[in-house]
Amino acid sequence: MSLSAELNSRTRFLRACRGESVDRVPVWIMRQAGRYLSAYRAIREKHAMMTVLNTPELAVQVTLLPVDTFDLDAAIIFADLLPPLIGMGLSVEFVPGKGPVIHNPLRTNKAIDRLSVPPAEETMAPTLEAIRLVRPELNSREMPLIGFAGAPFTLASYAIEGGATRDFAHTKTLMYHEPAAWNRLMLKLVGVVVDLLKSQVGAGADCVQVFDSWAGALGRYDYQRFVQPYSRMVFEQMGNAVPVIHFSTGTSAYLDLIAAAGGHVIGVDWRMDLDAAQDIVQRPVMGNLDPGTLLGPWRELRPHVDDVLTHMHGRGGHVFNLGHGILPNTPVDNVRRMVDYVHSGDWAHGRS
Ligand code: CP3
Repeated sequence: MSLSAELNSRTRFLRACRGESVDRVPVWIMRQAGRYLSAYRAIREKHAMMTVLNTPELAVQVTLLPVDTFDLDAAIIFADLLPPLIGMGLSVEFVPGKGPVIHNPLRTNKAIDRLSVPPAEETMAPTLEAIRLVRPELNSREMPLIGFAGAPFTLASYAIEGGATRDFAHTKTLMYHEPAAWNRLMLKLVGVVVDLLKSQVGAGADCVQVFDSWAGALGRYDYQRFVQPYSRMVFEQMGNAVPVIHFSTGTSAYLDLIAAAGGHVIGVDWRMDLDAAQDIVQRPVMGNLDPGTLLGPWRELRPHVDDVLTHMHGRGGHVFNLGHGILPNTPVDNVRRMVDYVHSGDWAHGRS
């Protein structure tokens, strides 16, 4: 039997994550269930973000929106990076128009020592229940489900800064002044992250992604000393039961260190050509279209998609994605056209 007769989205995606041959490049989109979808905005008009996160039936509905709208090859559970911090003792609020804010950011040794490490089954029960509920829905669509968590550094910096930051001033102050407290914090986060990821796999996730979205804040020297040892613990403890994607942004200058920390697939942003990234990491890669290109017209978007695909053409182990999350005002038609174009294979034959 030919590959195309055998493969469905689930097998195609999982084969690509293992670097095995596939009939077409699998596609999913980071932040695919978000504000660029009118059906998502309609749900959010009725329910607060925290309500959607904490109501399994709503989280399932939102998880399915993008996979029922576009010909995607994977679903990602609707959740967020920050709720695990709530279970540890932080007060997280999603402020409309602003993003998540932590009202009691970590600034002292004492606050770090007070953080608890409760089991995900207790503190992340709605997300785990959403995974159990969405699994049969995805089975009937022959779709894989991706679970996820923040990497220890991205979670630590969010917890210390209390919100978005440009300079990571509080994080770096704590890291340099209190290396022992930093170590204790990172070890607690490793425990929370591994437990959450394993619980998601236990509930039915086929694959998990570790988001180190903020890892690019550091130079090589600091990534190596303050981040890599803890990320490595996460990947080592996850083992090989399911593919683990290691995603980061702004880390082109130390992608070798990111890869050495671990992950079966390395998620790469658009600042580097994907084939060059694969030469460094020596394993399957995910990415790396600039999400901003989806704001342009097709005549501009298409050559950008071609650029990503042709860099990887003939190489194994590519999961097509954006280099970071899709932007809220992205035209839905561009998303549909992009997904269908990747699948069509027309780019590989030089046709339009
Ligand atoms: O990919 C998906 O569709 C799954 C859902 C998902 C969300 N957040 C839902 C969400 C995922 C994978 C995340 C990850 C996440 N959350 C990250 C890492 C990924 C990245 O893009 O770097 C980070 C840093 C967060 C924290 C967070 N949550 C921020 C900074 C914000 C506000 C800014 C923004 O991008 O919207 C959120 C809110 C959030 N998380 C929304 C969604 C759909 C928007 C909430 C809304 O207003 O409806």
